[in-house]
Amino acid sequence: MQSCEISADSTDDPLSSGLRRKRQPRIVVIGAGLAGLSAAKALLESGFTDVTILEATDRIGGRVQSVKLGHATFELGATWIHGSHGNPVYHLAEDNGLLEETTDGERSVGRISLYSKNGVAYHLTNNGQRIPKDVVEEFSDLYNEVYNLTQEFFQRGKPVNAESQNSVGVFTRDVVRKRVKADPDDTEAIKRLKLAMIQQYLKVESCESSSHSMDEVSLSEFGEWTEIPGAHHIIPCGFIKIVEILARSIPESVIQLRKPVKCIHWNQSVSKEIERVADHNSDLPEEDKGSDVFIECEDCEFIPADHVIVTVSLGVLKKRHESLFHPRLPEEKVMAIEKLGINTTDKIFLEFEEPFWSSECNSIQFVWEDEAESESLTYPEELWYKKICSFDVLYPPERYGHVLSGWICGEEALIMEKCDDETVAETCTEMLRKFTGNPNIPKPRRILRSSWGSNPNFRGSYSYTQVGSSGADVEKLAKPLPYAESSKTAPMQVMFSGEATHRKYYSTTHGAVLSGQREAARLIEMYQDLLQCRS
Ligand SMILES: Cc1cc2nc3c(=O)[nH]c(=O)nc-3n(C[C@H](O)[C@H](O)[C@H](O)COP(=O)(O)OP(=O)(O)OC[C@H]3O[C@@H](n4cnc5c(N)ncnc54)[C@H](O)[C@@H]3O)c2cc1C
Ligand SMILES: *[C@@H]1O[C@H](CO)[C@@H](O)[C@H](O)[C@H]1NC(C)=O
Ligand SMILES: *[C@@H]1O[C@H](CO)[C@@H](O)[C@H](O)[C@H]1NC(C)=O
Ligand SMILES: *[C@@H]1O[C@H](CO)[C@@H](O)[C@H](O)[C@H]1NC(C)=O
Repeated sequence: MQSCEISADSTDDPLSSGLRRKRQPRIVVIGAGLAGLSAAKALLESGFTDVTILEATDRIGGRVQSVKLGHATFELGATWIHGSHGNPVYHLAEDNGLLEETTDGERSVGRISLYSKNGVAYHLTNNGQRIPKDVVEEFSDLYNEVYNLTQEFFQRGKPVNAESQNSVGVFTRDVVRKRVKADPDDTEAIKRLKLAMIQQYLKVESCESSSHSMDEVSLSEFGEWTEIPGAHHIIPCGFIKIVEILARSIPESVIQLRKPVKCIHWNQSVSKEIERVADHNSDLPEEDKGSDVFIECEDCEFIPADHVIVTVSLGVLKKRHESLFHPRLPEEKVMAIEKLGINTTDKIFLEFEEPFWSSECNSIQFVWEDEAESESLTYPEELWYKKICSFDVLYPPERYGHVLSGWICGEEALIMEKCDDETVAETCTEMLRKFTGNPNIPKPRRILRSSWGSNPNFRGSYSYTQVGSSGADVEKLAKPLPYAESSKTAPMQVMFSGEATHRKYYSTTHGAVLSGQREAARLIEMYQDLLQCRS
């Protein structure tokens, strides 16, 4: 890593930026994901003219990443628009005619749905048996009932008892197990299947919350995440279209790609340094010298700013907060970063020459019978594939070809990321052969997968409230720095936005968009006089 010196190679023409500085605050947004783009768009539309976005990678979109293979588009990140009315992403898609088709019903029947317009879920065991439909339905109802109970702790302020360790996983496993074991109508064999299904459902749930396991997800806070009513939509031409629409209203010169930020110097720490070593920096434009914030990029450029909006993921903050901020973040902020959770959910797309599944099958769910009595689900490294919970069938085949989309989360997802394509394809195929009881399934002709956990610009998929954290930590994460008595006097030097800073909608694209708009609104309010006299 290069070490940088404070120097004076400001790229702006000092005269013009001097004039601008008197009227216009300089705002730098870090990250060109949905939060960063939404913030910049709102700022520009309100009349701010000095807005810059610094993005580490060579593309915009962040955790929205659509990959075109042949005619089809595959989503390595966000896939569904969750809910309709009041969801800003839905409205963007709807207003721009992107919703020609929906996956109505998908994921919206109960918590984990068995049916969709295009078929039914197949629950298969490692002995190559399909679990009978009625057993699956009974279990699913039971699971959804207990899922509903998990919501009540937050929603009704129900106290959590000690045995459940404030963990969604521990609570759900205990309650579902007791009910399965107490059911007089089931044979021992059926009970055993249902006990094994608990683990599979918890793996699915864990993929949905991007946790290592549901044992890490806080029971008392689980119900705070709020679902926007309505169907779940996909965007057939790619979720990236939403990103492109947001970016359309942002001039190209605003976005700097391949511009990783190394350190945010705030609280005038660089300005004080400049004063101290005045000679060394005498060629820095006069009006920049007193800037509250300087953003140090990996390429050693120092960018002065009045306000910076940080949108990097909670995973990046966890890993890098000590070096990313100078001076270091206040203890309260650090605690929030450490307590809140983010882990990895990855997708594995497998394309087959021919479908080996029946046309009514919309997904293959892997139920390991030997896990019926297991407690927490962590596997030795070589058994990472036991964490893959399911493969969805992408529909319709005319659009996607014969493609399965697999899900894996947690530590095991990180191990999968380290394997090569060949190993993952071979391992998944072997698993499909075992569970379908069909040893002749040929290897897929193509594999495509995500690696959100090891990617240094993400370090995880999306956030959740980990045991020991709460919505109050989300608020603390979102609070601008330095802290002030009232929002009226807050200097708003360092602001935080991004999926993880939204108390009700964390982990989603709409949460990211709204969090960007929220931070823009703080600055719009702060400068309302200036913005008004301009127009
Ligand atoms: C596998 C997966 C599936 C998902 N499915 C859905 C779904 O179906 N529906 C849904 O609504 N949501 C889904 N999400 C969540 C959704 O994608 C995210 O919540 C949202 O995209 C996050 O946007 P953001 O702007 O907060 O963060 P990001 O998109 O992470 O943007 C932050 C940006 O900061 C950049 N950055 C990081 N470090 C630096 C640095 N040092 N300097 C400069 N730039 C930096 C990153 O490169 C990135 O572009 C999914 C996510 C994943 C990973
Ligand atoms: C769970 O709660 C929802 C909303 O309160 C309700 O519509 C649904 O029927 C409940 N499901 C089960 C299985 O109890
Ligand atoms: C910010 O600067 C002020 C004034 O120099 C100082 O009192 C304060 O401790 C600094 N805050 C941090 C977090 O370093
Ligand atoms: C996820 O959880 C595992 C197990 O606790 C941990 O090793 C890993 O660092 C976590 N982080 C990410 C980004 O997956």
